[in-house]
Amino acid sequence: MEKQINVGMLGFGTVGSGVATIIKENEKQLSQKLGADVRIKTIAVRDTEKYRDIDTNGSELTTVVDDVINDESIKVIVEVMGGIEEAHQAIEQSLRAGKAVITANKDLMALHGHSLLKLAEKHHADLYYEASVAGGIPIIRTLEDGLASDRISTIMGIVNGTTNYILTKMKEEGWSYEDALTEAQALGFAESDPTSDVEGLDAARKMAILATLAFSMEVYLDDVEVTGMTNITAEDMSLAEQFGYSVKMLGFAEKDEEGVDVAVEPVFLKSSHPLAAVRNEYNAVYVYGDAVGETMFYGPGAGSMPTATSVVSDVIAACRNILLGVAGARHIDYVNERKIKQEDQQHAQFFHRLLVKDKIGVFSALTDIYGKYEASLSSIIQRPGEQEGEAEVILITHPVSRKNHHKIVEELKQSDVVKNIISQYRVEGGDR
Ligand code: NAP
Ligand code: HSE
Repeated sequence: MEKQINVGMLGFGTVGSGVATIIKENEKQLSQKLGADVRIKTIAVRDTEKYRDIDTNGSELTTVVDDVINDESIKVIVEVMGGIEEAHQAIEQSLRAGKAVITANKDLMALHGHSLLKLAEKHHADLYYEASVAGGIPIIRTLEDGLASDRISTIMGIVNGTTNYILTKMKEEGWSYEDALTEAQALGFAESDPTSDVEGLDAARKMAILATLAFSMEVYLDDVEVTGMTNITAEDMSLAEQFGYSVKMLGFAEKDEEGVDVAVEPVFLKSSHPLAAVRNEYNAVYVYGDAVGETMFYGPGAGSMPTATSVVSDVIAACRNILLGVAGARHIDYVNERKIKQEDQQHAQFFHRLLVKDKIGVFSALTDIYGKYEASLSSIIQRPGEQEGEAEVILITHPVSRKNHHKIVEELKQSDVVKNIISQYRVEGGDR
């Protein structure tokens, strides 16, 4: 093969080493598909000594990122080093030089994706980021191309493998939250600081990226309403099961004529919903389009080879554009004006588990509070509390605004019939 495209890679860790392996193992296939050889010419790392005994398949190692970016023979930059500042600077510099950039960096894309895409367009450079959401699932390309003709109204996603793994192990194996998290760290799914997994921030970043694409609108990380999973208890999970639900950490992105609502939170999900069957560290993204109806995309959300598969598919796309002479020709513009719903426009059903005084008038006091904030109840049951004179009330509301839900919770806390709000969850998965 006479033509050769040189790739420069920033990072040679979990994802970077997977990218090098896939390119090496599929060398012939890639050449045939593209009509050109793809070669990783240089790789930047922090410490070359660490990689001394690793076969780099002829790629040079350097600790100087500029050695990669400023090399004129390198046309495609793969950023898999992570972090924000240095990665941001490296990507901007590469795009300004007209190079194609591939990144797996969801933290960066959630914060600076809009400006980077505009910069890419200005400099006629490609910027691809398939691996930034749901590792090995080609969901970005699906939203950009596969479903481009449809009007998407809902995305629901299990987009964090760590939290799904923890919930699966707690439910199926009776593990403690701490043990499940430790194992997720040992298996390499969790972030180096797992707070961003369990507090929902990692999923929020991915949902901001998906919402932007699905609704063709600027959606920022700050627009995402985020609630972490650290309050989920084994007792709530078993209660959910009794009521026909599974507890899941879900991302939501919904759009109607009033605007867009994006959230990440622990949810009582109807066990019949396809997302309820997603176990362990697997990810899945459920997309509802006006024309296509229900679709769901399932696969590994992290890990060296699955994530690298997405990175290499972006490398192929960028190389193909270079060979066809259409690099950076993509028009990046948002169709819809930015309209993010306020709390009084966001509606959902909620599950409440309350510890109340076991005395006459409690139900009527409770229904007064819910009624005052226009929340009718879909179901309500009472069961004995652990202590004499106490009872547990378990209820599910019909859809109510988030604003009114907050007010209900505040009023329940002040009420002299309610001793404690044991737990509260969003409820999802009924017929649409
Ligand atoms: P990783 O294993 O920690 O590897 C990072 C690599 O980047 C290492 O080779 C490191 O070199 C190098 N590096 C870091 N800072 C650098 C700098 N300033 N200059 C030069 N080299 C630098 O990280 P990873 O898990 O592969 O993740 C990479 C990116 O992919 C992140 O943005 C992450 O969010 C994203 N991602 C990861 C996964 C996954 O499953 N791991 C899934 C989806 C997306 P040294 O080893 O010498 O320090
Ligand atoms: N910590 C992330 C997860 C890695 O658990 O899904 C992939 O982005």
